[in-house]
Amino acid sequence: MAKVGGLGEVSAALPAALRELQVDARVLLPGYSGVLAAAGNVRELARLTLFDAPYEARLLMAHLQNGVPLIILDCPQLYARAGGPYQNEAGKDWDDNGWRFGLLSKVAAILGSESSPLDWRPQIIHCNDWPVALAPAYLHYTPQPRAASVVTVHNLAFQGNFDPDLVAALGLPESSFAVDGLEFHGRMSFLKAGLLYADAITTVSPTYAREIQSETLGFGMDGLLHLRRDSLFGILNGIDTAVWNPETDPLIAHNYSASTLDNKLINKQALQQRLQLAQEPGIPLLGVVSRFTQQKGIDVLVEAASRLVELPVQLVALGTGERELEYALRTVAARHPGNIAVAIGYDENLAHLIEAGADMFLMPSRFEPCGLNQMYSQRYGTPPIARATGGLVDTIVDCNPGTLRNGSATGFLFNQLTAAELLSAVRRAVAMYRDRSSWRILQQNGMARYFGWDTAAQQYAGIYARLAGLV
Ligand code: ADP
Ligand code: GLC
Repeated sequence: MAKVGGLGEVSAALPAALRELQVDARVLLPGYSGVLAAAGNVRELARLTLFDAPYEARLLMAHLQNGVPLIILDCPQLYARAGGPYQNEAGKDWDDNGWRFGLLSKVAAILGSESSPLDWRPQIIHCNDWPVALAPAYLHYTPQPRAASVVTVHNLAFQGNFDPDLVAALGLPESSFAVDGLEFHGRMSFLKAGLLYADAITTVSPTYAREIQSETLGFGMDGLLHLRRDSLFGILNGIDTAVWNPETDPLIAHNYSASTLDNKLINKQALQQRLQLAQEPGIPLLGVVSRFTQQKGIDVLVEAASRLVELPVQLVALGTGERELEYALRTVAARHPGNIAVAIGYDENLAHLIEAGADMFLMPSRFEPCGLNQMYSQRYGTPPIARATGGLVDTIVDCNPGTLRNGSATGFLFNQLTAAELLSAVRRAVAMYRDRSSWRILQQNGMARYFGWDTAAQQYAGIYARLAGLV
């Protein structure tokens, strides 16, 4: 399917949880090659011809792997290509992304209007991130009755800003290109359109909802977000607790639970073996699974890596991303064979084994709207060490004598994103690791935390009901 980091996981899991609450949630996805291949048998629902370009598209009916009804916007000319959803194989944004996601947004809006070719008419169009954030602008110019809209910000750094010519080309009135419209620093912005016209805005953690109203993490949208603060809600993501369960996970070397934590060591050995790390059971093993980008603070990890080895800890990092960061990580790993292993690539099996086999999990994020791995690692008895930002603050309880005593401590947080603070947080963790019984408590506290989707689904369903005038 189409999965780029956390958003892919969330877009499949949230609708499933909503359906459990009797919300008839269906997913709209572009017909990327991977989506069409995974969908198998599809049924054509409608044909559409849109824009003056023009684009011939079809709506196809299918289901996600978890059973959620899926409407595929099939337009091979725009979506069926080798490469990622947003970028080509060389990592460059597709030149026609404005058209690609303009069409997606337009179709989403049509489905919520009287001119929809489908019998099924949603009361709410819920848009995830910039690629479909133009839908609320289209809806704004659509006569009633029409669906209400919700925009969820998963990452404010990605805004979908394009050439102003696109406004007219995508069939929006020229007058919408204004300071109190889609205009953003001389460009037309999909995300700004969404933030302006959506009936409600949500983001994926309460702390991030506050942070994006400040200049530091607002990426230029802070003023608008602050203005709309009464319609802005921070709803913490859940995780798929069936997929991420150390008791049943088929992708790890040995299953374990909070009461059989000794078996976690078998996973550590398997991980060390797989990545040719020294078989040292006593040296704490630090895991990282991440996009290798500035957002994730990988540059600071590189800076700290050699000194981490001196603590001593072993480090394993799995990911892909910016070429320079991949290269820097590889270089530092080559300098410390047996103690640092770097795997470049997207590998779900290895991601699971790292969660199970590492002793601690590191997330030195510069900003983190929610983050999923810190929740997985708590479930896997692998206490997270993370920068105190965004969803990491909302999901990790920093370990100190008080939180350890009252049974709430689950990991380690540090404030400034510097190599020195990162190292001092890891040092705190290593000291605690040496105290076997306290460490065990920390692990078990994390494993007892509940991160299921139902809590978030209830909050979204509450917003939908209010917007649909049902309450
Ligand atoms: P983001 O969406 O910003 O990348 P999240 O923490 O929300 O961050 O989600 C990232 C998800 O992608 C996690 O489930 C993580 O395990 C997974 N992931 C990231 N990189 C890799 C990789 N190289 N191999 C396997 N899984 C990965
Ligand atoms: C984004 C954010 C990440 C979040 C994910 C899912 O990719 O970077 O923090 O967990 O979306 O909401």
